[in-house]
Amino acid sequence: MSVPTDATTPTMQAAVLTRFGDADSFQCVPLPRPQPEGDELLIRVAYAGVNPADWKDRRGYLTAFFDIEFPYVIGFDAAGWVEWAPPGSSFQVGDRVVTPSAHGQGKWGSYAQYLVVSPDGVARVPDSLDLRVAATVPVSALTAWQAITRTDRGYLQPGQSVMVHGGAGSVGRFAIQFAKELGADVTASCSAANRSALENLGAHRTVDYRADLPEQLARSHPAGVDLLIDAVGASSLPDIAALVKPGGRVVSIATLNDDGDVPALIADAAGAGIARQVFAMDDADCAADLATIVDAVADGRLQLPAIHEYALADVAAAHRLLENGKAAGKLVLRVSDSASGAAPD
Ligand SMILES: NC(=O)c1ccc[n+]([C@@H]2O[C@H](COP(=O)([O-])OP(=O)(O)OC[C@H]3O[C@@H](n4cnc5c(N)ncnc54)[C@H](OP(=O)(O)O)[C@@H]3O)[C@@H](O)[C@H]2O)c1
Repeated sequence: MSVPTDATTPTMQAAVLTRFGDADSFQCVPLPRPQPEGDELLIRVAYAGVNPADWKDRRGYLTAFFDIEFPYVIGFDAAGWVEWAPPGSSFQVGDRVVTPSAHGQGKWGSYAQYLVVSPDGVARVPDSLDLRVAATVPVSALTAWQAITRTDRGYLQPGQSVMVHGGAGSVGRFAIQFAKELGADVTASCSAANRSALENLGAHRTVDYRADLPEQLARSHPAGVDLLIDAVGASSLPDIAALVKPGGRVVSIATLNDDGDVPALIADAAGAGIARQVFAMDDADCAADLATIVDAVADGRLQLPAIHEYALADVAAAHRLLENGKAAGKLVLRVSDSASGAAPD
């Protein structure tokens, strides 16, 4: 993305990368505000949700997916207010909204005071839901929702069995709750410390990923499960045929750092009669699904992990925790200093 050079362009504060690298690569400096085009909305960001993809993005792992130019603003999840909407838009200035942003299509992301995004990727946030909480939802919930429900992904059916590998993570927690709501039999892998939390979310049982997974799963599912959702990485599942029944499915969520030799893994699985795929969240036309999920969060029908808030200026500290795997719960960056309720002046 090129940076407008017109001196009259309004600016915004952003956590900016001028190179790929470690957590100290961010600089909080002003940048020109992005300008909406066509039906795009200009969103003022209150909070940016932080995802594992963000540290990988910071390190340059997303260069395979879109062209990246510096200065570069990362971040997918955002909650905030509509700052500008084109005439005829279904959104109004001041609407409280949440979005996975258009960063997945190469636009600047949510680690900045403003972003532009197509309305088909934006959902309203009910007044009862804090924007800080809403900002933690899009990527992890949409990924879990698509992995569990889509006909071309997990397509889980009532009465079928699913193992959610990585059940204590943000994606895993949503996947457990969606699968339980669908009427599936749910097993989740986690560390011993998270067992009761995941059973409270709706997992019928948990297995400890530090012990023998096939041996533990065989106690309830000797022939394996119908569906395995892998939200951890290929190296953590050396033998899926010991976990999934013939005719079953494996949906691996692309990690960018532990996806293995994908064609070989798919071929190996096919040899055991298992359909395996690796997928990334689809952010096209996600507004309706996101609105349904956000409403369920607002109504208390979906539980979220603990949230830890950082100022945008402290983005490096948040990223160090995230990259080291020490971020228990979900991290958000406070991008706007306004309260999370009404739109600021
Ligand atoms: N491509 C996409 O569209 C997309 C979208 C979303 C996420 N992802 C990727 O999916 C992965 C998960 O994302 P996330 O947001 O859920 O991450 P997260 O919240 O950071 O997940 C952390 C959890 O992973 C669990 N874990 C670590 N190693 C494990 C193992 N060997 N077995 C089982 N659980 C293990 C830990 O559980 P304990 O606390 O119990 O130890 C921890 O709570 C990341 O690699 C992320 O980049 C990709």
